[in-house]
Amino acid sequence: MYPIVQKALFQCDPEWSHDFTLNFLKRTQHNLLKSTYQQSVAAHPVNCFGLTFKNPLGLAAGLDKNGECIDAFAAMGFGFIEIGTVTPLEQPGNEKPRMFRLPDANALINRMGFNNKGVDYLVEQVKQANYDGILGINIGKNKQTEEQNALDDYLICLKKVYAYADYVTVNISSPNTPGLRSLQYGEALDKLLLGLKAEQKQLAQIHGKYVPLVVKIAPDLTDKEIKDIANSLLKTEIDGVIATNTTLDRSSVEGLRYAKEAGGLSGEVLTAKSLHVTKVLAEALQGAMPIIGVGGIHSSATANDRLNAGATLVQIYSSFIYQGPPLIKQIVKGLV
Ligand SMILES: Cc1cc2nc3c(=O)[nH]c(=O)nc-3n(C[C@H](O)[C@H](O)[C@H](O)COP(=O)(O)O)c2cc1C
Repeated sequence: MYPIVQKALFQCDPEWSHDFTLNFLKRTQHNLLKSTYQQSVAAHPVNCFGLTFKNPLGLAAGLDKNGECIDAFAAMGFGFIEIGTVTPLEQPGNEKPRMFRLPDANALINRMGFNNKGVDYLVEQVKQANYDGILGINIGKNKQTEEQNALDDYLICLKKVYAYADYVTVNISSPNTPGLRSLQYGEALDKLLLGLKAEQKQLAQIHGKYVPLVVKIAPDLTDKEIKDIANSLLKTEIDGVIATNTTLDRSSVEGLRYAKEAGGLSGEVLTAKSLHVTKVLAEALQGAMPIIGVGGIHSSATANDRLNAGATLVQIYSSFIYQGPPLIKQIVKGLV
């Protein structure tokens, strides 16, 4: 059924289709219409962060930014779900249009700019969900917060989501919030991670549970920059890393309609780049912390490649837009 639904949705504006679908999922996730997307997916348990994931395939951040459809995505059989990116305050994001399809490349370009309803709203959604699987909450900073005050925003979010998350992702790699990616380097990175780590220690005591902190990085880094980030993660005792976010590189889509739109490019054109980042990270980290691989995964083969390269878990976004819920079943079935 998804090919027909997809064909219809692809006739419409990408963001309209996205909002329409999320609205449908939100309204149906607790009634009988849930059966239109509910499916059983093969068990493929994986241990990571001291938690058991029923399979290693997760929903990547950015699709359910406000955590409104957690039970719907759970019904589709994802092994874990990451919601967000959420910021302390509600913000509208960039001007529309800000999401583009490049169907010849099975790719997307987006410059959403962290449009979201704010962390308090997200927490309310999580409280209302029945989901008992693994939930990641991805946090960011508001656009108007100065770069040098970024830590304050991440701390506000961390404190508010801590009790409700199985892991928290620190997103410093969106290309659509000016200055965010500069937090990936040198002293700025160390300062941010040390501040978050200190807060995590306190929150672990207050709540009596340890919630892993995971950092999400960009694909547009040199090998030296990836190694430097790995060293910072090790030094500050961060618990894991997600590789990667979207790319600014357009060399793989040159000449295609929308290729020149500003924003982050995702989908199959990102497969090799993200795989490379995973390989360099795996080499630098030597198993010291888990890697979550994301970027261009669109089949069992590309998921297996990422796991073989050193990732413990994988996530999808763009391929899920192109192939829908059947892809989850298909990928997990073909995992070795
Ligand atoms: C429309 C759109 C919005 C996204 N929003 C976020 C976000 O808010 N936070 C984040 O960490 N990643 C975000 N991402 C990046 C994805 O989580 C993922 O890292 C990236 O798309 C690469 O994976 P893919 O090739 O499977 O899409 C977004 C991606 C897309 C396409």
